[in-house]
Amino acid sequence: MYSKLAPVLGSLALASLVSAVPVDVEKRDNGIWFGGRGSHLENYQNSNGAAPSASYSGPANGYYTPSATYGGGSYSTSAPPASHSGGYNGGGGSGSSDGSSNPFSFPLSNGFPNIQNPSDQLTAIEAQAHGLLPNGPPPPTAPAADDLTSLRLIAFNELWEVAFFTELLYNVTHNVAGYQFQDESQRQTVINAITAVQAQEELHLLNANGALAHFNAGPIQPCKYVAPVSDFKSAIGLAKTFTDVVLGTLGDVQTHFGQNGDNGLIRGVAAVIGQEGEQNGFYRNLLGLIPSGAPFLTASTREFAFSALNQGFVVQGSCPNSNTINLPIFGALNVLTQNIQPQDQTLQFSFSATGSYSQYANNYQGLSLVYINQQNVPVVEPITQATVSGSTVTFSANLPFTKNEMFGLTIAAVVEGSGPFASVADVAAVAKFGPGLFEIA
Ligand SMILES: *[C@@H]1O[C@H](CO)[C@@H](O)[C@H](O)[C@H]1NC(C)=O
Repeated sequence: MYSKLAPVLGSLALASLVSAVPVDVEKRDNGIWFGGRGSHLENYQNSNGAAPSASYSGPANGYYTPSATYGGGSYSTSAPPASHSGGYNGGGGSGSSDGSSNPFSFPLSNGFPNIQNPSDQLTAIEAQAHGLLPNGPPPPTAPAADDLTSLRLIAFNELWEVAFFTELLYNVTHNVAGYQFQDESQRQTVINAITAVQAQEELHLLNANGALAHFNAGPIQPCKYVAPVSDFKSAIGLAKTFTDVVLGTLGDVQTHFGQNGDNGLIRGVAAVIGQEGEQNGFYRNLLGLIPSGAPFLTASTREFAFSALNQGFVVQGSCPNSNTINLPIFGALNVLTQNIQPQDQTLQFSFSATGSYSQYANNYQGLSLVYINQQNVPVVEPITQATVSGSTVTFSANLPFTKNEMFGLTIAAVVEGSGPFASVADVAAVAKFGPGLFEIA
């Protein structure tokens, strides 16, 4: 099917998303349409022609305030390419405002992330997303500073997610090598899903940045990004992993909201946790896995999420204001063992002891490797067989899979001391390198 369509689609190339959808597929009723998708895409298309708004100013309701403005229409920086290491593994990539240059940079052609409320652009995003940006009033009082940090982290993450899914949608709709399908109906199912997800992630960002704007707390501006994948299966595997990290991290965010007395923010975050869980069931299904990977999702913390995003996807030096996010970036921990199977085994890791972590090149004896999986007590393992080459420390650690049934996401971290640690937060408090991320089906 694909090979027959390829020349046709190739000639239509960049015309529009609609043109990449074969007419017979667009028309048929196969049970996977949710309402008038045609008009969603039309709206989306129309919005593509609109000039980006130069500033972001808000309406009277929702999280936006009339006085809120941030950023300009463009965030071009001349940052050097990032060297990508750390949890997500891999290298290379490309992107553009709507998917095709390298690295990926905002704004999108609809002006995102500079979207006014109300505006035709927002209405088009909402149509594509199958729903509205929350339109109720924000909490009456400003959140604690610590919770503004959480909102900034959420915005920082959502900007990456919009970049990723915009590029993924581009790759699939344009039949980029590695993103071609033999089964046209599966391709269409993927396009339908990712079309909605891309807009849904835009609304997640606008919600978080809208709250920050409302409380005069400095909305987060986009960086440049590189996705370390170049084929569909790896892209979905990556989406599964970073979504799992987000799911665990939002639990941490809610814990902070509770501790700080900001209960007005909890319900909205819960709605995003479930939403991202739905996405992940689809990604797992695409990979041939059962939709729900484990009885309890793996806990994470804000520090691990911020570190993973910076280590894995963000072009270093390209972020206008990520320095306003008051969270540490740990040293990168590489999981060298690939395709980890559900069995007891020894895993190989490495970290690069440079910069503020350089002391650990010859001082790793006091460190341990910790695994965080599901909602269980962190598992501490000694670092063994360490070798040092320059500033790179390579070592092994035991993975006690069987006893702990370590399915789903595991977050590995190199920490000072050997615990024991009661919770993921206690691990993050002493972490030096991490997160090393791996998933066991
Ligand atoms: C899209 O395809 C390009 C070219 O292979 C690749 O570099 C990029 O990482 C891909 N993006 C995603 C999100 O899969």
